[in-house]
Amino acid sequence: MNVLVIGSGGREHALVWKIRQSKRVKKLFCAPGNAGIAEEAECVNIQPDNVDALLSFAKERKIDLTVVGPELSLSLGIADRFEKEGLRIFGPKASAAKLECSKAFSKEMMAKCNIPTAAFKTFTSSKDAKEYIKEKGAPLVIKADGLAAGKGVVVAESEDEAINAITDMMEKRIFGDAGNKVIIEDCLKGEEASFMVFTDGTTIVPMVSAQDHKRVFDNDKGPNTGGMGAYSPAPVVSDALADKVINDVFKPLISGLKREGINYKGVLYAGLMIDDNQQNVLEFNCRFGDPEAQPILFRLKSDIIEIMEAIIDNRLSDIDVQWNQGASVCVVIASKGYPGNYENGKVINGIDEAEKITGVKVFHAGTAKKDNNIVTAGGRVLGVTASGIDINEAVRTAYKAVEKIKFEGMHYRRDIASKALSLTAN
Ligand code: AMP
Ligand code: GLY
Repeated sequence: MNVLVIGSGGREHALVWKIRQSKRVKKLFCAPGNAGIAEEAECVNIQPDNVDALLSFAKERKIDLTVVGPELSLSLGIADRFEKEGLRIFGPKASAAKLECSKAFSKEMMAKCNIPTAAFKTFTSSKDAKEYIKEKGAPLVIKADGLAAGKGVVVAESEDEAINAITDMMEKRIFGDAGNKVIIEDCLKGEEASFMVFTDGTTIVPMVSAQDHKRVFDNDKGPNTGGMGAYSPAPVVSDALADKVINDVFKPLISGLKREGINYKGVLYAGLMIDDNQQNVLEFNCRFGDPEAQPILFRLKSDIIEIMEAIIDNRLSDIDVQWNQGASVCVVIASKGYPGNYENGKVINGIDEAEKITGVKVFHAGTAKKDNNIVTAGGRVLGVTASGIDINEAVRTAYKAVEKIKFEGMHYRRDIASKALSLTAN
């Protein structure tokens, strides 16, 4: 079959890498892809928001299955458009993707379905929002309602910080229309984990757990990023907790969406805050997490195409999704300045050396090819991913590989998975 993957990040490279292992795939395309993806699929220069061009391409090239990486395409209704034209696509429709694309909708659904989450209020006026902040006092979490590339959340430790966030989002409009509405919620404490499931709208199949590292610097310091590294499994997600998350979060949500006339199909991601074995939901995403997809797909034993096809055909219950034992770790290497401004075009060396180490794969995120060199072309540049019999081995291998890679201004966290190591040591 002919398969098209949409996107250009580390998540999409991991998807391409995994999809290529399926015996059923003859021809693999990626739009727009990156320098690493170009080694494994034919890259097509169409951006994820150009749904018309993607649709024409899929028809012309007789694509049998389109796999959507980023939320942007989903929010634009790509699944609705493809389905209408009789094309098979993996990813939820726009009405379901609203779970990620509108934080207000997501919180309302959580409230309706009795899903544990932080207490919240929604505001459309900056004056009212600021008054509420003064009344409540810090700490508070300020969230832009719409999509803001993972940067629309401010965990404000002081009242001033919270008020500045409202000024930025609602008055200076730094995220455009995404800040027309804001959510102000109580600040939760605990340990975060990413919990993803496959679902066809009836059957829910959990993936192995993972933990992301959202802050840019070691020890969770500095601003939030798209994610600086991830590992799987996350020991904070015990088997008992995983059962609780399925029963108290995913089942009520999928049923609640159905009551609203929404049949959720695809990958559903819950960002959790776990404290004393109790989970609260911080957010839902309508797609694979990035970087979480990199260590998680590393551990997926089953043919991913079989799973995706079963979801499209509403027969996920027939599939036995299998995972590799052991652990995997992904360390993200970023450009100087990320998550703020950064320069592109720095020559990257050492990727081949890193991949010579057994159990290592370097997934590309922001890379491009220029004059026979691989150069930086984004904030998050590479996801150096390694497997091991346990987290300890996977971490050591991943950092051994990271040390082989060099480009001007590169930076990465040196403490990826350190929380897992301290938890398993206890
Ligand atoms: P979100 O995009 O909603 O997951 O928020 C991004 C990050 O902000 C999360 O991964 C948390 O680190 C933090 N965050 C979000 N909501 C809260 C909350 N209610 N309490 C504490 N931290 C939060
Ligand atoms: N790594 C978090 C996300 O993909 O949203």
